[in-house]
Amino acid sequence: MRFAVRLLTTVLGLGAASAAIPESLTVNDRVFTKDQAENGEALYEVNCIACHDKKYFRPVLKAWEGQPLGVLFNVMSASMPQSNPGALPDKDYVDILAYILSQSRYPAGDSELSVENGALDNITIAARD
Ligand code: HEC
Repeated sequence: MRFAVRLLTTVLGLGAASAAIPESLTVNDRVFTKDQAENGEALYEVNCIACHDKKYFRPVLKAWEGQPLGVLFNVMSASMPQSNPGALPDKDYVDILAYILSQSRYPAGDSELSVENGALDNITIAARD
């Protein structure tokens, strides 16, 4: 009996430890703010719209379903705008990403999308709920 209690404690202890691992999210989980999307829209109109109209990313996001947002971020921040790759600060690419998500009608929320600590790798691109 005492053994069983100890075993249970161990199992619960492990449970607590795994709770420290960041929860994995999808783009449905309100991963950007409205402000970011609005700022991203202004940046998109200056830097991206010449080649990608506002609807361009809807099918692109569909094609990227199942991939982490961080991979899409890396592609766009390393290769875009095609005329001047990598020209923008990371924060601007993040805001543009927020705008692109809002254009596919993913919901905004209270927490900012961030490139810190690999956070984008923990968010999966998924079909809209
Ligand atoms: C001078 C034209 C041009 C500009 C400006 C431009 N792009 Fe692109 N972009 C392209 C081309 C060409 C491709 C590759 C062909 C395609 O898929 O249309 C591409 C592809 C992409 C892809 C990959 C899409 C996929 O199918 O996986 C992303 C992401 C992207 N662009 C993001 C951006 C963002 C964000 C901006 C603004 C910061 C931007 N682009 C500005 C021309 C441009």
